[in-house]
Amino acid sequence: MITLQLNGEQHTYDGDPSVPLLWVLRDEFGLTGTKFGCGEGLCGACTVHLAGAAVRSCQIAAGDAAGKPIVTIEGLDPHGDHIVQRAWRETNAPQCGYCHAGQIMQAAALLAAHPKPTEAEVFATMAGNICRCGCYQRIAEAIHLAATGA
Ligand code: FES
Ligand code: FES
Repeated sequence: MITLQLNGEQHTYDGDPSVPLLWVLRDEFGLTGTKFGCGEGLCGACTVHLAGAAVRSCQIAAGDAAGKPIVTIEGLDPHGDHIVQRAWRETNAPQCGYCHAGQIMQAAALLAAHPKPTEAEVFATMAGNICRCGCYQRIAEAIHLAATGA
């Protein structure tokens, strides 16, 4: 049995600790905001925060996340009002929306570490988050808005 710190609460998980965190989040704890895209660490749809860093939850065994704070899109802000979420709404960033929990979690981790990122930093950080709908321009605008309040 392992203990997972999910969105500020302690939970126990007595399943296979080698199962990817993504599936434990979704299937065991109902945190379905975190999406499955590729399962190979290549798309970013499954991005969550682990000990404050953006990670691909499809690539982390649940056991390796034990005891560390995990934040999913559901826990980013109790009212869905994180500065990045507000900027996303303001810019109507999503199209189908599938990739956006991962995009938002990646952007939130970036701004937590670098509140005023350069365009190059934004591009480099977000390059691993794929959007099949091609919303990249609005995503960049949303991050700029969140970073500058402009
Ligand atoms: S589902 Fe994890 S990176 Fe694509
Ligand atoms: S909005 Fe559809 S995949 Fe990004």
